[in-house]
Amino acid sequence: MPGLRFPDGFLWGTATAAHQVEGGNVNNDWWLFEHDAAGICLEPSGDACDSWHRWGEDLDIVAGLGFGAYRFSLEWSRIEPEEGEWSSSSLEHYRAMCAGCHERGLVPIVTFHHFTSPRWLAARGGWEALDAPERFARFCEQAVGRLGDLVGWACTLNEPNIVAMMGYGYGIFPPAVRDWDRRLRVNDALCRAHRLATEALRSGPGEFPVGLTLSMNDWQAVPGGEERLAELRSESEDVYLEATAGDDFVGVQTYSRVRVDASGMLGPEPGVPVTQMGYEYWPLALGATVRRAAEVSGLPVVVTENGIGTEDDDQRHAFVTEALRALHSCIEDGVDVRGYVHWSLLDNFEWVLGYGPTFGLVSVDRETFDRHPKPSAGWLGSLAKANELEVP
Ligand code: BGC
Repeated sequence: MPGLRFPDGFLWGTATAAHQVEGGNVNNDWWLFEHDAAGICLEPSGDACDSWHRWGEDLDIVAGLGFGAYRFSLEWSRIEPEEGEWSSSSLEHYRAMCAGCHERGLVPIVTFHHFTSPRWLAARGGWEALDAPERFARFCEQAVGRLGDLVGWACTLNEPNIVAMMGYGYGIFPPAVRDWDRRLRVNDALCRAHRLATEALRSGPGEFPVGLTLSMNDWQAVPGGEERLAELRSESEDVYLEATAGDDFVGVQTYSRVRVDASGMLGPEPGVPVTQMGYEYWPLALGATVRRAAEVSGLPVVVTENGIGTEDDDQRHAFVTEALRALHSCIEDGVDVRGYVHWSLLDNFEWVLGYGPTFGLVSVDRETFDRHPKPSAGWLGSLAKANELEVP
């Protein structure tokens, strides 16, 4: 049987985020949260994967495996360590990373905010500070002024829906607030931050597509759950999909499905395996979410994250194979999908769960920081190079 070919120019990449891999990000809200003795984090991020120093090695691995893109994020607290104070050397660091991507034939997909905010903003109320969206847009303006000419694709905010829900609704991300009304107000603030940031990014140097990335679930109603599903999905996804009007693309990030009945979200269905994260192994979620993102937003889609936390690399291979088959069938049906970026390049700091879950194509020795590509890394890199998925 012939393989499944992807469109010419399809972007194949892999991703990381600053706080999860750089190490020593002591000046942001997450570092504080991780070190709260009464808190819920299983361990602190510490040196992470030491990618602040080893980014060149990381890029060599990404390019060597056969990928054409690398998605990474800028750490706001390094670039603006105190309000209005700009670190030229940190900006230069990220400029060198963008240049390093180009030197290796990688398109830099730059995310301007991936969950962490500087301590000074947290002290002023985080995303509840009335001018937080303006402060974020000003940061984007400064950053893009320095490296915009080298940016390939720009993502303003990573999963703002998760920032609002986990940080202000469930209280398991900083600032650990549990208040549904406050969460909904933070949704509004983040939508505004996205719009202002988009303007800032577009008015700087460089010509690149700008969008936001959204955490999306394959929402499935069990009979009687349709209405509740619509409500839940609306406040966690639709408000953001609506805020993408005028963007160049929407970034879809998918890991699993959620079933809903009349009383709310249900746990995993008996008989369906769960991953290290406790949610269901459900690779087909990718097709469902990509279709919905395209339909509601009317925009081209880039899969900016998809992957699985598992210690079984064969399971990763199987998961991605199924997910890519579903993605390919979206493309066959005419959905405009521009790329697939796998989460993650490295086994890294998985937020509250520390270094337990392993999403990486590459494992990292926690003492020496040596990188060891897993078999799935070679497989996915070759697939990327061939632009074709061989179907068993
Ligand atoms: C986030 C990543 C995280 C991944 C796996 C996404 O929600 O953007 O930071 O590591 O999922 O849980």
